[in-house]
Amino acid sequence: MPVSESFGRGNGCHSVLVCCFHHSSVSAATKSSVALFSYIYIEPQTIIQVTMSQQQRMGGQPMIILGEDSQRMKDRDAQSHNISAAQAVAESVRSTLGPKGMDKMLVSSTGSITVTNDGVTILQEMDIDNPTASMIVEVAETQEDEAGDGTTTAVSIAGELLKNAEDLLEQDIHPTAVIKGFHLASNKAREEIDNVAYDVDPEDTELLKQVAETSMTGKGAELEKEVLAQLVVDAVQAVTVKDDDGENIVDLEFVNIETQTGRSAGESELLNGAVVSKDPDHDDMPQAAEDASVLLINEAIEVEDTDADASVQLDSPDQLQTFIEKEEEQIKAKVDAIADAGADVVFCQKGIDDLANHYFAKKGIIAVSRAKKSDLSFLREVTGGDVVSDIDSLADATLGSANVEYDESEELFYVEGTGEDPHGVTLLLRGSTDHVVDELERGIGDALDVVAQTVADGRVLAGGGAVEVEVARRVREYADSVSGREQLAVEAFADALELVPRVLAENAGLDSIDTLVELRAAHEDGDETAGLNVFTGDVVDTFDAGVVESAHAKRQAVSSATESANLVLKIDDIIAAGDLSTEGEEPEGGPGGPGGAPGGMGGMGGGMGGMM
Ligand SMILES: Nc1ncnc2c1ncn2[C@@H]1O[C@H](COP(=O)(O)OP(=O)(O)OP(=O)(O)O)[C@@H](O)[C@H]1O
Ligand SMILES: [Mg+2]
Repeated sequence: MPVSESFGRGNGCHSVLVCCFHHSSVSAATKSSVALFSYIYIEPQTIIQVTMSQQQRMGGQPMIILGEDSQRMKDRDAQSHNISAAQAVAESVRSTLGPKGMDKMLVSSTGSITVTNDGVTILQEMDIDNPTASMIVEVAETQEDEAGDGTTTAVSIAGELLKNAEDLLEQDIHPTAVIKGFHLASNKAREEIDNVAYDVDPEDTELLKQVAETSMTGKGAELEKEVLAQLVVDAVQAVTVKDDDGENIVDLEFVNIETQTGRSAGESELLNGAVVSKDPDHDDMPQAAEDASVLLINEAIEVEDTDADASVQLDSPDQLQTFIEKEEEQIKAKVDAIADAGADVVFCQKGIDDLANHYFAKKGIIAVSRAKKSDLSFLREVTGGDVVSDIDSLADATLGSANVEYDESEELFYVEGTGEDPHGVTLLLRGSTDHVVDELERGIGDALDVVAQTVADGRVLAGGGAVEVEVARRVREYADSVSGREQLAVEAFADALELVPRVLAENAGLDSIDTLVELRAAHEDGDETAGLNVFTGDVVDTFDAGVVESAHAKRQAVSSATESANLVLKIDDIIAAGDLSTEGEEPEGGPGGPGGAPGGMGGMGGGMGGMM
């Protein structure tokens, strides 16, 4: 009689494959021993997993359902594999955390180089193909989307949660108890983040500058952080409006970042309106237009291509002349239509024919071809004009209005809106080389996001590990009220939060244990904002010292780290269509055997270890 059997540990763990035994039930020892499964066989409606002993009873007939390269890992093997993969990812970014964090150089398969300190950028540029590791990369990506900063923190906490979880699993605590404990602790931690957050005046420029500076420290932007923090705050304030309830709304869509190589970061500037890194298409075009009507168009100003593949046979030079004249007429008609619509400046996303440029120049119109799509979208905000997709519909379109000026030495246009409600600012970032400006752009992007969050919700936290130690202390207190094995998971969660001050100390060359002991003691004495001064190694009031973070980003880091750790912990069965290891030898015991996990991880850990 067939005996149905669900593999895995049951109790809510994700078991991907449900197997039915047709011959006899299997002993508990056999179930837990993945090594004994030699082949898996599928029947039309059933999946049969055959053990060695069963196979012998079936006359040694192997039954195979998975491809030759497939691998399966179950229970503790699967959990260890996943936890090691996640930890390897977390460890790869740890050394970049904080003001004393170092940068990484990533070289892509095409040879392009990225030098960065930004957690999400590192993980995205790394060639990760382990599935669990990719899930951890998603933590960084979510953090980047939701908060803009704190990606290294989020990933490091996720890795530490899993490391601590593994200790609990080894003590035979069921994964669901760990997951529940982490979930309770995460809720409590976020509640406590709200409790320790300071409500600040969103117009307090000095504090906003401190938030920007904290976010920039350790990044390329740090050396000129005073100038840049001021620019970031000015940019955010320029795009802040109050809604009907008096709440601040910040729309960063109206802040455009342009980069220019050649000068130093300190010479970066904030400009009203847009900057377009382009030249006029023709030398005879004017270089400036005051209070100009601006046409934004995403259709080419060229001879229209025929849809069909046609060939034209010309029998005489006259016919050729007529053909050319027709084409010229078509282009002239387009230029005339644009001039008749009143445009003084044309920004076109596609190409502009040389002849069209000649006519534009004769009419005193500035034309710019192949403008970036993002430039056009931003110009729409700045000038108030529509982006036209068809010259024939010009009559219904609104042209933008702006002062347009070409800067020959910088090779870019300044476009300042002159409409009724001009909005939009451009941060023109400068740096000596491409790599410098790229990293500057990432640092400034983070700072813009956290300053915008602070203006919008007005809540900040003391940085330098202060908030983590305080919240960990409160979560530990809360653990006493949690019954059962979940209590241990809540405590493990608190320990994981303290990873941040530990790593900040480690990266600064300080003793992480001493630092943590000192910090804990200060917090026990009621000093809620005691954090680490990474430059002196002292425990100081980081809020007073101006190390201030956005509360929103920290909340997000805690929740995305917990959710992804829990997702990984809930898996107890991995069935991979291909080889789980990315390199290295075939693990001992064959695919799916106990050696599978270290083999798979060895591949990834080794790969990354080699790179770091
Ligand atoms: N001057 C400072 N002294 C002490 N700690 C600081 C200082 N400036 C920043 N920090 C701390 O550094 C941490 C942030 O480091 P970092 O910016 O490298 O990582 P992240 O924000 O988590 O990730 P990423 O910026 O890569 O997205 C925060 O915990 C912050 O409190
Ligand atoms: Mg940061």
